[in-house]
Amino acid sequence: MEGEGECSDNPFTSVMTLTKMRVPHVPQRYVLPPSQRPTLALDLTTTLPIVDLSTLHHASQRSLTLDTIQGACKELGFFQVVNHGIPLPVIHDALAAATEFFNLSLEEKMTLLSDNVHNPVRYGTSLNHASDKVHYWRDFIKHYSHPISDWIHLWPSNPPSYKDKMGNYAKAVQVLHKQLMEAILETLGLNFGNLQKEIEEGNQLMAINCYPACPEPDLTLGMPPHSDYGTLTVLLQSGPGLQLLDNKKKWLSVPFVEGALLVQLGDQIEVMSNGQYKSVVHQVTLSAENKRLSIASLHSLPINKKIGPAPELVDEQHPVSYNEFSFRDFLDYISSNDIADKRFIDSIKKSV
Ligand code: OGA
Ligand code: NI
Repeated sequence: MEGEGECSDNPFTSVMTLTKMRVPHVPQRYVLPPSQRPTLALDLTTTLPIVDLSTLHHASQRSLTLDTIQGACKELGFFQVVNHGIPLPVIHDALAAATEFFNLSLEEKMTLLSDNVHNPVRYGTSLNHASDKVHYWRDFIKHYSHPISDWIHLWPSNPPSYKDKMGNYAKAVQVLHKQLMEAILETLGLNFGNLQKEIEEGNQLMAINCYPACPEPDLTLGMPPHSDYGTLTVLLQSGPGLQLLDNKKKWLSVPFVEGALLVQLGDQIEVMSNGQYKSVVHQVTLSAENKRLSIASLHSLPINKKIGPAPELVDEQHPVSYNEFSFRDFLDYISSNDIADKRFIDSIKKSV
């Protein structure tokens, strides 16, 4: 059954399979046009904001930390966090569960294969193997994760420890997300209490990504430039590879810091803030030597909740700049549009 996917023009081939076959070149369908290939990026090691979250609990340090978060949100839409309360063993266990999952036989993983973006659990490759014109060097498993009791029975049952290990991490990140939202809304002058229930009842989609070593990393990407749709994405990575677009349209490489988590602003925060904060455009580059794993926890308000600019942030000088949208609207958009061609957020911006 290797190579046979669902009924579509694009047969399914996982990147893990290509790597096991030791292909000496990337197959043609992974080769990007020259203008979209990765270019030399600046190294952010010294300049990337790192926020010590433990300081948020100390009255005397909190306002300084909120200033740092506000600066990072305005400047980049991105920061790293340390002392975030998720123990290192929980992080290592989650990455170990991911490693074991992708090492399973293709046959086993294919039981979860789906190109339907509305499915709450699905295994796949590239962005969407069934519709992508160019393919990206990534395999993934995605699953809804909150509230965990609604979804965990649908998660992979192999490796046997998957549900436990990934579940512990998922629950911890959901708590962290709430804390980060509280801080970020405060930096916007918005009342957390008004949104608390919807944040607590929001959607959490975990994307567990596997980027095997690639024979020709200069020709292709693990993921094309995009922003995430939700409020925040909390990203755990096993090594370097992520790049961010700065406000001068230059790519910056995100350094790897053991135990740190990356926080990325998504489209729902951009819309809520009426454009004061922008969602961060990011892409994933590959390595010829190393496989990279990442666990992106994408948080959003409840799936049908329409989000528009907060009324407090709208006035004559700052008119409403975006139409409302829900997570479901986003899913409908990506079912029929290629996000590598046009960003979703551009489809809801009001013309001036
Ligand atoms: C994503 C994503 C980045 C990474 O899953 O949306 O951008 O480093 N992942 O895997
Ligand atoms: Ni992303």
